[in-house]
Amino acid sequence: MPTSHKIIIDTDPGQDDAVAILLALASPEIEVLGITAVAGNVPLALTEKNARKICELAGKPQTRVFAGAIRPLVRPLVTAEEVHGKTGLNGPELPEPTMQLVDEHAVDFIVRTLMAEAPGTVTLCPLGPLTNIALAMIREPRIAPRIKRIVLMGGGFFEGGNVTPAAEFNIYVDPHAADVVFTSGVPTVVMPLDVTHKALTTAKRIAAFRALGTRVGTATAEMLEFFERFDEGKYGTDGGPLHDPCVIAYLLKPELFKGRECNVMVETASELTMGMTVVDWWGVTKRPKNALVMRDIDHDGFFALLVERLGKL
Ligand code: RIB
Ligand code: CA
Repeated sequence: MPTSHKIIIDTDPGQDDAVAILLALASPEIEVLGITAVAGNVPLALTEKNARKICELAGKPQTRVFAGAIRPLVRPLVTAEEVHGKTGLNGPELPEPTMQLVDEHAVDFIVRTLMAEAPGTVTLCPLGPLTNIALAMIREPRIAPRIKRIVLMGGGFFEGGNVTPAAEFNIYVDPHAADVVFTSGVPTVVMPLDVTHKALTTAKRIAAFRALGTRVGTATAEMLEFFERFDEGKYGTDGGPLHDPCVIAYLLKPELFKGRECNVMVETASELTMGMTVVDWWGVTKRPKNALVMRDIDHDGFFALLVERLGKL
């Protein structure tokens, strides 16, 4: 199967990030040029270690993992241990990684790769706060027109927020970085809470991962059983939303998703709505349509893809 996507995953693992990374590493259509860690769900020292743990769980210790920003551009770091646990990857007992971190800053790697690869061939897949992506764009403005596309998990509109009534976590943690990205002019696909809240890790779906009978299947079930408990309690649902794998699933099967081109702007002034993604879904403004915003998902097809691909690891 020919490689059809060369990607950089920017991530703050995080159990849902971990499943997204596993899906990418399990899919021959995707060449992961590198994984860049950012501070988010837990501090950077843990997100970079967790990224390496997941690469080793996938049996891909040759994957290049880089450490990036230790905090947002302007605001203090806000983390989410209450959701992901103290390690950021609570659930399975995963061994300390033996693969090394690459000795290059993530932002330098992103800039160097985009300047070296042919223009329009590399997709960025941010799964956490957008600090590394914004820093790369500020450090080297020439990279923006060279990026094929950004496919990110973040934001929310009719669904509201998950860390404040108005804002989703990834955007809330670094709203200034999100503003840089959404005004960069790079073709962007957004997986907001409006989509991810329709992709619930029900007991039946977690059982399907466990039934794989593999280290990856069992670890995935254990990660999701830990990860979902916070949102099950909050939303009263069977299972929690599986956010980040929607980004990778879109690359593999875009037909699983439905949305529309919209203008998206990010609140960076008001403390009340800080980090809110203001999505002009009904086109009531004349603002430029800078993003393809997804709203619907074939969630059965999504989980079938996940089980099928993770079963290959
Ligand atoms: O709001 C959900 C997002 O925040 C996901 O990417 C999750 O991993 C956290 O980073
Ligand atoms: Ca994440």
